[in-house]
Amino acid sequence: MREQLEQLKNDALVAISSAVGEEQLQGIRVRLLGRKGELTALMKGLGSLSPEERPSVGQLVNTVRDELESGLEAALTAERERVKNERLQSERIDVTLPGRKSQVGTKHPITLIVEEVCEIFAGLGFSVAEGPEIEHDWYNFEALNFPPEHPARDMQDTFFVENDLLLRTHTSPVQIRTMLKQKPPVRIIAPGTVYRCDSDATHSPMFHQIEGLMVDKGITFGDLKGILTIFTNQLFGQKTGVRLRPSFFPFTEPSAEVDIACVICGGKGCRVCKNSGWLEILGAGMVDPEVYRHVNYDAEDISGFAFGMGIERIAMLKYGINDMRLLFENDVRFLRQF
Ligand code: FA5
Ligand code: MG
Repeated sequence: MREQLEQLKNDALVAISSAVGEEQLQGIRVRLLGRKGELTALMKGLGSLSPEERPSVGQLVNTVRDELESGLEAALTAERERVKNERLQSERIDVTLPGRKSQVGTKHPITLIVEEVCEIFAGLGFSVAEGPEIEHDWYNFEALNFPPEHPARDMQDTFFVENDLLLRTHTSPVQIRTMLKQKPPVRIIAPGTVYRCDSDATHSPMFHQIEGLMVDKGITFGDLKGILTIFTNQLFGQKTGVRLRPSFFPFTEPSAEVDIACVICGGKGCRVCKNSGWLEILGAGMVDPEVYRHVNYDAEDISGFAFGMGIERIAMLKYGINDMRLLFENDVRFLRQF
């Protein structure tokens, strides 16, 4: 029996030291010390020994059991430690690494200008109106007093969709749509996208305009100049000079083009203003009586002015951008600067 115990102990210690993983170790514990385990079976055999032998063999059994238990315990502790270290290693987080910044977008310069212009006019009592980008010839041309053979209708300027439909070439049709919907007084601005068959460093086939229209009793050219002066001063700075030059539009009479003193050279003359000291930013004029006739307004009773500005031109002047195409290439390195 002593030999059996020795044998069992040695085999068990070998098994414990070569066991892999907690499951195998628990298996060994059950096989040796469980209720039907090998050592338990030997202990049951103690009864068949002589009374002289029993105490010393019994003591040996206890020693072997203690040894196996502490051997198993040590192996289990080591195994658990190993598993824990492995996990710590694989789930290791380097808290000293710099964080990853989330990229925040910026508003497009065109959006910024539209918002700023709308805000300035909101402060002057204007509300925002909108119209469709695919427009009928009648709103885009006819009602705005473009004669049928007017060159602006030519294929090289206008993108036609079908028959009488076209991509609007300016935001002026919103004047017509607004006046057909409401009686005077009218005080609106209409920002929007417009299209022309036109493309170079200062012309884009798709660009943006903001239309303005003010109609009421007794509106004069002086009101037009006053509003535009307030507007340009707010947008470009208090001391920016403004000048009105006679011009022509079929839907305004008299008409003017509005220049501001060159924002680059301050009026001294440079490459950007082609040495004139002035930069054109918009077209404007007193609404032509012929337009009122199309929207059933009484030209004897009311008067008003309209203006239309190119947003890309204004963005270029305000931000010192020298090529309009930069505004549409959507290079993030460019856009992030605004
Ligand atoms: C008009 O479009 C008139 N509807 C403006 C107007 C409204 C006059 C109300 C009177 C009363 P014009 O074709 O000049 O006018 O264009 C106005 C502005 O749009 C120009 O001053 C310019 O800044 C801009 N613009 C014109 N063509 C282009 C283009 N291809 N790309 C970018 N901007 C352009
Ligand atoms: Mg022009």
